[in-house]
Amino acid sequence: MLVTSFAESRLLAESIAERLNVPFALVEHHRFPDGETLVRVPAKLSSSVVFVTRLDNPDPRLFPVLLVADALRRGGVRRRTLIAPYLPYMRQDRVFQTGEPVSQQVLGRLLSEAFERVVTMEPHLHRIRRLGEVMPGKSVSAAPRIAEWVAEQAPGALLVGPDEESAPWIRDIARRANLPWVVGRKQRLGDREVRLDLPPLPAVSRAVIVDDIASSGTTLAAAARALRQAGLRQVEAVVVHAIFAPGAEARIRRAGIGRIVSCDTLPHPTNAISCASLLAAAVAPRSRKTSP
Ligand code: R5P
Repeated sequence: MLVTSFAESRLLAESIAERLNVPFALVEHHRFPDGETLVRVPAKLSSSVVFVTRLDNPDPRLFPVLLVADALRRGGVRRRTLIAPYLPYMRQDRVFQTGEPVSQQVLGRLLSEAFERVVTMEPHLHRIRRLGEVMPGKSVSAAPRIAEWVAEQAPGALLVGPDEESAPWIRDIARRANLPWVVGRKQRLGDREVRLDLPPLPAVSRAVIVDDIASSGTTLAAAARALRQAGLRQVEAVVVHAIFAPGAEARIRRAGIGRIVSCDTLPHPTNAISCASLLAAAVAPRSRKTSP
């Protein structure tokens, strides 16, 4: 097996290769003045290649990924695995208003044609339950690593999921970390507007909001305001995918969140929880052990 990536995902890709104890090689990426892309995969390939990429801001990133898949096939690779720790377009999983596409299925078709399997982390699956319904792949939970982090860094804290959909996930993290948990009731009113109500809270002074994605930061900010109003003195946040659109961090800070940390599924200054071992284990051949 060989692990590859563009330079921008090198850190995570190298750490996955290290845990698998297999070589890593960069894929060259050239942008022509007219905006077209040329990629060049390593000359020495193996029959199984893992390509690691970030897919936030997906539109300019997706086409180069398809070019890589084509080059790998032409290089004789039989098993092409895409590790895209963050999968975009998962939230448009149905036609909400006439005239819209089902973007999730479009992405699924593209990636299914290009790769033999896709491995991702905490995809935002709502109306479908398994990633396999959209593309041949595996979704990995960040719960074990998040639970380790909260148990060590926020002992005694209340874990708060912003919406009812997150309940099974928050319960899993809370059980692993042996911490109390609640979920709120969230209603999205617009891109940057949500309404969030919390249930009655246990008597604690510290809370950690746990969510899969921080995009505009509106959800974290609304949850933090609700917790502050309920009298919580210390409010922190852990997210898996640190998208943080412009203005998001300021919005979150204004709402009174002290510390924000994220998993390293997308490179960001808040990255504090490494998920490389979980991703490596997901692609490791059954006979091969990965290092922690
Ligand atoms: C949605 O239900 C997700 O779990 C996140 O809460 C949401 O995507 C966060 O988006 P934003 O930061 O824009 O509120």
